[in-house]
Amino acid sequence: MTDRTQTVDRRGTVDDASLSRLARGIIGSEVLRIAAEIRSLIAAGQPVCNLTVGDFDPREFPLPDSLLEGVHRALRAGHTNYPPSNGVLELRQAAARFTERELGLAVPVESVLVAGGARPLIYATYRTLVDPGDTVAFPVPSWNNNHYAYLTGAVPLPLPVTREHDFHPVPEQVEAILPRVRLLALCTPLNPTGTRMSPAALEQICRAVVAENRRREERGERPVFLLFDQVYWSLDFDTPRPPTPAGLVPEVAPYTVALDAISKSLAATGLRVGWSIAAPAVTARMSDLLGHVGAWAPKAEQIATAEFLDDPTAFAAFRRTMHQRLHERLDLLHQGLERLRSQGHPVEAVKPEGTLYLSARFDLFGRRLGGRELRTNEDIRRLLLEQAGIGVVPFQAFGLSREDGWVRLSVGGVAVVAIEAGLERLAAALRRLE
Ligand SMILES: Cc1ncc(COP(=O)(O)O)c(C=O)c1O
Repeated sequence: MTDRTQTVDRRGTVDDASLSRLARGIIGSEVLRIAAEIRSLIAAGQPVCNLTVGDFDPREFPLPDSLLEGVHRALRAGHTNYPPSNGVLELRQAAARFTERELGLAVPVESVLVAGGARPLIYATYRTLVDPGDTVAFPVPSWNNNHYAYLTGAVPLPLPVTREHDFHPVPEQVEAILPRVRLLALCTPLNPTGTRMSPAALEQICRAVVAENRRREERGERPVFLLFDQVYWSLDFDTPRPPTPAGLVPEVAPYTVALDAISKSLAATGLRVGWSIAAPAVTARMSDLLGHVGAWAPKAEQIATAEFLDDPTAFAAFRRTMHQRLHERLDLLHQGLERLRSQGHPVEAVKPEGTLYLSARFDLFGRRLGGRELRTNEDIRRLLLEQAGIGVVPFQAFGLSREDGWVRLSVGGVAVVAIEAGLERLAAALRRLE
């Protein structure tokens, strides 16, 4: 035995080629790469209005006091061991009561599965419902479906969407591809666009899923499922009780996996608590799968979340505060960009409808700065960062291949004064463009 620390070279001849095909093909998060670049600019003392990450800065968006106190209390009470792998019963029951109270849907507790945020539940949904070679359809842009499809060996079927239809697929588009699809992934309000899907469109899509599954049942084929990601539902600014697939079309309930989480709704991205609602048979297998991954939410957080979800007054008050803080920032950005547009600059922004995101378009293709021509979204992103100190994420990071100048602006990490300063720098940078 020696008490000296040994330094071991772990590189050897191990490189990417030593890894599995799956690992070699994984594309890391584009948003995190851009965010790291911005951190180094900030460290170098440059003023940056960082509109990149889909996270909340706790100084700008603190989580509810009572939730935080609940976590402390649960830890002190000794809830430091493993929770049941499908979630503590109190939270599964509380999530069912919450869904009934807030969204008007009665849910049996066997349908509720708790995990460490929405991500593991999305992964489990894909792995539970999709075989390699099955087709998964999702709008582009949308958050991470391309990556989950890759991890499952699924054939991705990106559905191009347009501003005209609020960046959501239209029913006819879905109906045309549904016979080939195993999983349809929808999210409203949508990350990255901050726009909501019309209830009429959602209803028509749900009816199409039911009709398709009637046909498949007759032929003895496996059904198509709907992954309905509603982690932003409480951040929909104008709809107190947003519609859900099962609320609109009860027959679609068995084929729907609905996702909810406290990450965005309670500005609690670091606490890691989410839950899914699905047919008991689906839930049971998702639970088995996640049990092996160990992706459960920490027990103290689960207990505190259960208490918070059961407090309608605290939830409603916090929701109002979130709306006010998000509106303040998103409206400032939206109005600032529209003002630049009215001054003749080729920028536009979509009126925010929910989430922490704003869609904006910088149609700067062909413009020049210092002799350099802007040709791609990446050129535009760099220009905004280097010349205006504004960090944005192009829609390419959300699976879009079209180069059309659309980007996501996220306000969860910025103070109002930082947005004001960023808009001034932007106006000056646009004036410098040739
Ligand atoms: C649409 C959507 N679903 C799920 C998630 C992941 O949520 P969680 O932090 O609970 O894993 C995100 C995170 O940005 C998201 O935008």
